[in-house]
Amino acid sequence: MGKPLNIGVVGCGNIITQYLATFPRLASVRLVAVADLDFARAEAVAAGQPGVRALSVDDLLADPAVDLVLNLTIPAAHADIALRAIAAGKAVYGEKPLAATTEEARKVLEAAAAAGAVIGCAPDTVLGTGIQTARKAIDDGLIGTPISATATMMTPGHERWHPNPDFYYQPGGGPLLDMGPYYVSALVTLLGPVVSVIGAASHTRSDRTIGKGPRAGESIPVSTDTHVTGVLVHESGALSTLVMSFDAVATQSANLEIHGDAGSLIVPDPNRFDGEVKLRTLGGEGWEVLPVSAGYVDAARGFGLHDIAVTPAGTEPRPGGQLAFHVLEVMESVLESAALGQSVKVASRCDRPVAVPLTDLGG
Ligand SMILES: NC(=O)c1ccc[n+]([C@@H]2O[C@H](COP(=O)([O-])OP(=O)(O)OC[C@H]3O[C@@H](n4cnc5c(N)ncnc54)[C@H](O)[C@@H]3O)[C@@H](O)[C@H]2O)c1
Repeated sequence: MGKPLNIGVVGCGNIITQYLATFPRLASVRLVAVADLDFARAEAVAAGQPGVRALSVDDLLADPAVDLVLNLTIPAAHADIALRAIAAGKAVYGEKPLAATTEEARKVLEAAAAAGAVIGCAPDTVLGTGIQTARKAIDDGLIGTPISATATMMTPGHERWHPNPDFYYQPGGGPLLDMGPYYVSALVTLLGPVVSVIGAASHTRSDRTIGKGPRAGESIPVSTDTHVTGVLVHESGALSTLVMSFDAVATQSANLEIHGDAGSLIVPDPNRFDGEVKLRTLGGEGWEVLPVSAGYVDAARGFGLHDIAVTPAGTEPRPGGQLAFHVLEVMESVLESAALGQSVKVASRCDRPVAVPLTDLGG
């Protein structure tokens, strides 16, 4: 490994804490600067990180010491920050989704291609031992030919815990665009790209009440669907059923199940990096927990940056822009299908990302 990739973060909100915990574990990357629209937030983060500078967004993007801009802004700002970073000659890795719309995301990928810039995007949870062990089980033929999947994420909504949940209830948010990236990225990693979708969606309330933090009790408007269901038709012929909801109290359904003609797999929560993979084979007795056999061990948010740092130049990184674009188009197509009341074809295609062998980075 050469010298570490120098990271400049734009967006010092809720999620940065998890990245700050990961950076010291990764020798391949080094945090050098942070910025936020609210400069006080950048200052507060830098104060706890020796050697890290708090800068304005413009200064961070212009800083020659920054190799890659880690874009942790809200979805509505993802494309703008990514485009400005590319124009400044930087690589970009962003929180999900790649952009609020495929139209914006396409501009980001086109600008990156023209500039020769590397683009990466969360979620990197698919690189962990949970999804990767399931992937290896499928690739090793343990469930035979994959036929179907069910993906279920049902919660009452993020306003119960997030201090500034407004963006979850605006276009670009909602349960599908917020949590769908974990599930759809996992489904594409496990079953390959999607060629068409059918969707249906609804919303129950026109406002939500913030539950925690300084704005607790404040009512915020809802302008996006909050219960979304869909069927994804994979290129392989496998069918995935998706249920993503901010309108449910609780569920006992597994987050993700993959069914083949010779076996069924229970896959751990795609919003986590680890967890037990369980297999039940046709004619077998009961569920068997599979040994951890692939993926980054003890991974956490930010391991996608390591993957980018060690991917040879000119090669698409695993958490790359092509996958993120395809995932965004699949989700957008589900919402379009729901609005139209008919099946929608997915134009983009991406290969399944290269599998991650069992890798322990230590730390
Ligand atoms: N909060 C979580 O648990 C969580 C988990 C996984 C992923 N994410 C993703 O991370 C991203 C950020 O989420 P969050 O919860 O940290 O949001 P947040 O609202 O807490 O923080 C976002 C920060 O970005 C700043 N910002 C917004 N627009 C900006 C701009 N144009 N230029 C500079 N700074 C700007 C805001 O001032 C704020 O400090 C979202 O894409 C979200 O989907 C969040």
